[in-house]
Amino acid sequence: MKIKTIEQHILDQQRKFPGASGGFSGLLYDIALAAKMIARQVNRAGLANVLGSTGEVNIQGEVVQKMDKYANELLINVLTNGGKVCAIASEENENIVEIHDDFLSGNYAINMDPLDGSSNIGANVSIGTIFSLHRKISQGNRGSEEDCLQKGSQQACAGYVIYGSSVMLVYSTGTGVHGFTLDPSVGEFILSHENIQIPEQCRIYSVNEGNSNYWDEGTKRYVNYLKETDRTTGRPFTSRYIGSLVSDFHRNLLYGGIFLYPADYKKGPTKPEGKLRLLFEAAPIAFIAEQAGGYATTGTDRILDIGPKHLHQRVPLIVGNKSEVLRYEEFIRRS
Ligand code: AHG
Ligand code: MN
Ligand code: MN
Repeated sequence: MKIKTIEQHILDQQRKFPGASGGFSGLLYDIALAAKMIARQVNRAGLANVLGSTGEVNIQGEVVQKMDKYANELLINVLTNGGKVCAIASEENENIVEIHDDFLSGNYAINMDPLDGSSNIGANVSIGTIFSLHRKISQGNRGSEEDCLQKGSQQACAGYVIYGSSVMLVYSTGTGVHGFTLDPSVGEFILSHENIQIPEQCRIYSVNEGNSNYWDEGTKRYVNYLKETDRTTGRPFTSRYIGSLVSDFHRNLLYGGIFLYPADYKKGPTKPEGKLRLLFEAAPIAFIAEQAGGYATTGTDRILDIGPKHLHQRVPLIVGNKSEVLRYEEFIRRS
């Protein structure tokens, strides 16, 4: 059996595609290191007094879990010390974290959701970390917000870590999607899923149906369509929803499926709003989906084509098998 660690894989990829600028392999290595440290803390969560909230509310107006804070601070620490990033945008910080003069500044900006699905942690449900890397485009020595506010299609790399029954790191630099499983006994991420492609068959849908009264007509009609019986198209679909984007997406990526977090009218009748964040959740997940042969839309627009206006922008996200996501767009057009 051929055993390949994540570092060997990155180096092989760099040899094959020499376009990547310096520091990239080191940066991915830093992310993998932070992931291992977060995984260790997640595993001990019930014991180490790290469950529950900090008593604070973040920039999104959401309760900050102790683990959100831990993961955010740890990643910022590892990335700043690593000297490969020029700016860090995080779901947990209102503004970008600039790299202080005491540290080296690198060629990449990172956007990250340090802990995704953290409200599930107390119940031992899988959670994740999502990251997205952009090449520095701003002038000047240090990075700025401009480096973080780039379209998803410009990503140099996107990936996530899933802290599940095993820990996996899945990433893409635009040349396919590769998955690595952590062997905890040696502390290495080992290549376990090479060149992941979303299976053609799509039989799963994942959505928070508790919101269905607040959906637009097109979404209501599409989800009802998925429940109708039709053997030729494999309907009714099976419903699977964890409430943790990384876990829901990861399952659908491996088994085939469509994930929906459409805009809804929860906040009022005038302006429907999505929940998920463009830079920290939707864009990186969309990049991986497309690299695996899938597709991601807001219902009307390709996620990767959206020019971000601000760091914490929210968007509807419908992602998964391309044929189903396109069908969803068709339902929206016809409604
Ligand atoms: P986060 O924990 O980073 O705030 O993200 C939670 C997100 C995402 O993981 C999941 O898809 C979605 O919230 C679930 O939302 P609902 O509870 O509204 O279904
Ligand atoms: Mn999240
Ligand atoms: Mn989060």
